[in-house]
Amino acid sequence: MSGAIAIVLAAGRSRRMKGSIPKVLHPILGRTVLGHVLDALVAAGVAPADTVLVVGRDGDAVRDSVGGRGYRFVVQDPPLGTGDAVRCALPAARPSIGVAGRAEPGALPDLAHADLVVLCGDAPLVSPETIALLLERRRSTGAACVLLSARLAVPGAYGRVLRSGDGSVSAIVEAADADEVARAVDEVNAGAYAFDRAALARQLPTLKDRNAQREVYLTDAVRGLASAGERVEAVEARDPSEVMGVNSREELAAATRAMRDRVNLRHMDSGVSIVDPASTWIDVDARIAPDVVIHPFTVISGDVEIGPGCEVGPFTHLRPGTVLEEGSEVGNFVEVKKTRLGSHTKAKHLAYLGDGQVGSRVNIGAGTIFANYDGRSKHRTVVEDGAFIGSGTVLVAPVSVGSGAVTGAGAVVLAGQDVPPGDVAVGVPARLLGRTAASPAARSEG
Ligand code: UD1
Ligand code: CA
Repeated sequence: MSGAIAIVLAAGRSRRMKGSIPKVLHPILGRTVLGHVLDALVAAGVAPADTVLVVGRDGDAVRDSVGGRGYRFVVQDPPLGTGDAVRCALPAARPSIGVAGRAEPGALPDLAHADLVVLCGDAPLVSPETIALLLERRRSTGAACVLLSARLAVPGAYGRVLRSGDGSVSAIVEAADADEVARAVDEVNAGAYAFDRAALARQLPTLKDRNAQREVYLTDAVRGLASAGERVEAVEARDPSEVMGVNSREELAAATRAMRDRVNLRHMDSGVSIVDPASTWIDVDARIAPDVVIHPFTVISGDVEIGPGCEVGPFTHLRPGTVLEEGSEVGNFVEVKKTRLGSHTKAKHLAYLGDGQVGSRVNIGAGTIFANYDGRSKHRTVVEDGAFIGSGTVLVAPVSVGSGAVTGAGAVVLAGQDVPPGDVAVGVPARLLGRTAASPAARSEG
């Protein structure tokens, strides 16, 4: 645990998203925008019980999205700006047990020395390492505030970081309020800060809304600290994508691309081949073993698990609950959902495999469908080891195909009409030929 407390701002209006969903709840590769921020905090050692979320009047959806994880909530209504949001949250931002072990059991937490992290709920790419670095830098320098910045070729609508001669920060100027000179500054404010809680508390009552947006800016507290002679430092992000905020659909797409690149890089670093990272979209929860090869135009959503040596794509969609065991292959226009494929099983072309359990060394022919939904509920399909599913087979669930069994091309195996091990089923609806199929090894594969 870092011993720090945190405030995450998520009460702002989402005007530029032009829709009904709050911007912090838009999805990015398996998490909401806000979920990424909260995960980074936890990974940096700040517990949910030590984190206050500022939500708006209609914050129920935001609450629900993180329900049951122990976060504290404060309602800011109306949203008057980031400085006002922190003002609302500060009384609730107290450590749950004591700061960095300084408090004796039963003693009041020592707020005079508390580290307070403040993050924007709409900036999903801030990394745990960076949060830890802000905290570490504040402790080692004793600064009242250490903030995250980045140098951008197009600084756009971000606040500009102004530094004094000694390199410390003197102010942050919002783009809307910036003159020509400030606008030309390429160092921008990420909206991620480590504060000395007590020093920030002294500034908050002084904040006003005398600016172009008529908002109470948190960034004015930074200027206030510097003017009061307190030290304010900026740490430049090694990866400038860490500052990206999501204020519009265009920025949502840009943040998603940046997250995609980050996830793909992590997998490549751990031994996964991704032929074309730009067309491969992998959710943060997927677990992929070394020596897996992922071909272009593959989408992997949710808690998918891929074993060593598997081959996926091109044009494959793996959905939540998919497990591919070692050496299995899933190819062109195949969708898999809540289905486990055993080792060395192949489904190479045009298939839907949903709610299934498939054994090892099974060949799933082109055009196979697990018809899992009867209009009311979903049902399971089981295909045992070494079975051979002929092209265009429809398996109407619930149904099973026994080990080493064969279905003929175009067979429609009806619900409950299980194919016994080694049997052959053909036709529409499928009938059993009652004879043992040739051994799987003798068959050629599609
Ligand atoms: C803010 C910073 C800017 C920085 C940028 C980084 C201020 C004044 N400006 O600008 O310097 O470059 O973030 O992304 O802080 N929020 C509330 N209550 C409010 C207003 C906002 O909770 O009353 C929340 C929003 O939901 C959002 C975050 O605070 O998650 C930032 O607010 P936003 O209005 O998006 O600020 P920016 O203009 O992006
Ligand atoms: Ca923003």
